[in-house]
Amino acid sequence: MQDASLIHDEILRLKEDRHAIILAHNYQPADVQDIADLTGDSLELSRAAATMDGDVIVFCGVDFMAETAAIISPEKTVLLPAHDACCPMADMITADELKLVKSRHPDAAVVCYVNTTAEVKAESDICCTSSNAVKVVNSLKEDQVIFVPDRNLGLYTQRFTKKVILPWEGFCIVHDRITPDQVREARSLHPDATILVHPECRPDVIDLADHVASTSGIISHVCNSSEKEFIIGTEIGILHRLTKECPTKKCYPLSQAAICRNMKKTDLNKVRDALQTLHPQITVPEEIAARARGAIGRMLAL
Ligand code: 13P
Ligand code: SF4
Repeated sequence: MQDASLIHDEILRLKEDRHAIILAHNYQPADVQDIADLTGDSLELSRAAATMDGDVIVFCGVDFMAETAAIISPEKTVLLPAHDACCPMADMITADELKLVKSRHPDAAVVCYVNTTAEVKAESDICCTSSNAVKVVNSLKEDQVIFVPDRNLGLYTQRFTKKVILPWEGFCIVHDRITPDQVREARSLHPDATILVHPECRPDVIDLADHVASTSGIISHVCNSSEKEFIIGTEIGILHRLTKECPTKKCYPLSQAAICRNMKKTDLNKVRDALQTLHPQITVPEEIAARARGAIGRMLAL
């Protein structure tokens, strides 16, 4: 095992040689977040992939995130240091399954959560993330919306729109496991704390929360609030930024078991190796990318 500061220096040197940027999701391990040029939620990272300068994007996250970067910046080399980091929810719907639903609801628009494969994005009208799902749905002219794959985000969005949402039955294996009993227990342990949860949580958990937001939305809420204590209902990797950026606030995880194993597959060795070898690269065939780019582009334009 090489000394951490040596790897750190090596990454910074390679990053410069390759003219690379490192993007990390809010759930990444702390040392990976610390070496990144930007740590953020899915929307912030997609915007960064589209706008930041660089020939190479090292995407410290899971496959659909790197794929999205490859679709919107086809001229850049996109690397996913942990080649097997996937999102099980993104694999809960295929393009063929979506085509079948579309044929049953020909007048409905299709909104796909960014946690989908490129093939599913290619079959969708517009993409959304957890921070803009309501805005995306309300921007559509259609009255019916096929919403894939996250049932919980679809049902959450339904609370803020008159449109009829037809949610697919996918879910996040991390957030869907959080229970109302855990919320009640956390509330009784920390009665003065504000409870913040991610919209991938189940409706009965959302009902008990004080505030619902994307990962970066949770961070900015905590930092900008005059309250002092918070219970955080999402993947625990978010606590690193909360501790760093809001050091005067007390943040308790709603569930210590809320760990996304795929998000933890990235480490500094893999980041260094990816920069050294320019592998594993993520590419999307242009005939699929061109159609998926439409759905992502319409979201980014909003
Ligand atoms: P955010 O866009 O809120 O960061 O969520 C991404 C994700 O995968 C949550 O599980
Ligand atoms: Fe996918 Fe859930 Fe992990 Fe997010 S936390 S990447 S939705 S499995």
